[in-house]
Amino acid sequence: MRHLVDITDFSVQEIDDMLRLSEDIIDDRAKYAEAMHGKKLATLFFEPSTRTRLSFEAAMMELGGNVLGFSSSDSSSAAKGESVSDTIRTVGCYADVIAMRHPKEGAPMAAIKHSTVPIINAGDGGHNHPTQTLTDLLTIKREKGRLNDLVVGLCGDLKFGRTVHSLINALARYSGIQFVLISPPELKIPDYIKRMLTDNGFRWREVESLDEVMPDLDVLYMTRVQKERFFNEADYVRLKDSYILTPEKLKQAKKDMIVMHPLPRVNEISVKVDDDPRACYFRQVENGKFVRMALILTLMGEVE
Ligand code: NCD
Repeated sequence: MRHLVDITDFSVQEIDDMLRLSEDIIDDRAKYAEAMHGKKLATLFFEPSTRTRLSFEAAMMELGGNVLGFSSSDSSSAAKGESVSDTIRTVGCYADVIAMRHPKEGAPMAAIKHSTVPIINAGDGGHNHPTQTLTDLLTIKREKGRLNDLVVGLCGDLKFGRTVHSLINALARYSGIQFVLISPPELKIPDYIKRMLTDNGFRWREVESLDEVMPDLDVLYMTRVQKERFFNEADYVRLKDSYILTPEKLKQAKKDMIVMHPLPRVNEISVKVDDDPRACYFRQVENGKFVRMALILTLMGEVE
C-alpha cells in the first residue's frame, strides 16, 4: 500500500507519470468519470483549508466516488482528546483513502503506522505539503512547458511556508534549476533545506530584495506570512507586509515569467496583478483538482 507523506515518497518517474495522467484527465474528463465508483475518500482537516479540502472532494466526485470527513478538529473527537492514530484506525473502517491536514509536523507519519488505507498528507504544520507541490509542478509544466532549466524565485515566509519546503524538495530532483530565496532575515529557509541544495550541487542564493532579482526569474512563487505559526503577534505584524507585488514591480520581470501563489493571498499580491497574463495562481487552483484526481487514481491502483 502506498501513502503520500513527503513528495520524495514518489520517484521523479512516478511524479512525471502523475503529471501526464493529470493532463490526460484534463483532455478527456469523461474517460475517468466512473473510475472511483463505489469508493470513498475521507478528508480529515484538523486545520483550516479551502482549496486543498474542496479540491480533494471535487476530485473524488469527478471520479464518480463519494466523500466524507470533517473540516475542523472542533467537530471531531480530537476535541475530546482522541489521538491521531485512533482517529485514523476508525476512519479506515469507513473510507478507502484518507487525506489529512494536521497542525503537528510529522502527524501523517504517525498516521500511516496504524492505517489500513492509503494516507495523503494535505499539510503538516510548517513542514510539508506534497499535494500542493504536485499542483505547483503541473502548473509550471503547463505554463512553462518544462520542469528543468528554470530560475525559480521563492518569496515571503520561507521559514514556516510548507508549500515552499515541499516544492524545493521536488524541484531539486530536476536539472538546471537555480533557486533564489527571497525573504526577510527572520523568515529564511530552514538550514536543512539549504544543506540539501548545497550537497546536491544546486545553485542557490538568499536575498532580501525582490526588486533586485526580479529580472532574472522565470518563476516567481509568492507566499503568505504564516500568521498561525508565529509565537508573537508583534513579529507577525512587523513582517506581514514585507513583500507586496504590484504591476509597477512586475514591469522589471521577464515577459514570460509566471507568478504563482499557493493561496490564500492576504496582501502579498495586489489584486491589480490578477489581470496580468503572467499571473497564474487561479489556473494553479484549477490544476490542483486534476492533479489530485491523478493522485487518487495512482494510490488506488487504478493506473496501468
Ligand atoms: C497553503 C497551506 O495550507 O500551506 N495553502 C494551500 O493549501 N493552498 C498555503 C498557505 O496557507 O499559506
